[in-house]
Amino acid sequence: MYICLCNALTEKEVEAAILDGARTPADVYRSLGCEPQCGTCLRDIRHRLKNIRRRAVDPEPSPSCALTTGA
Ligand code: FES
Repeated sequence: MYICLCNALTEKEVEAAILDGARTPADVYRSLGCEPQCGTCLRDIRHRLKNIRRRAVDPEPSPSCALTTGA
């Protein structure tokens, strides 16, 4: 699936760039040899940066709220 139509960047290419160390959308474009054009894809790239970094830090998050019954 294409994420950036202006530069014909696919989801896999963008995710590979992030896994290779891109930390900002500018890093992603640079590592893939292009520049942002219309900017429509910026939100999607930022979302992927955030999610992939989160998974790298905590691959299997534990339940955030363990309920106790008080019994
Ligand atoms: S869709 Fe990525 S710059 Fe236009």
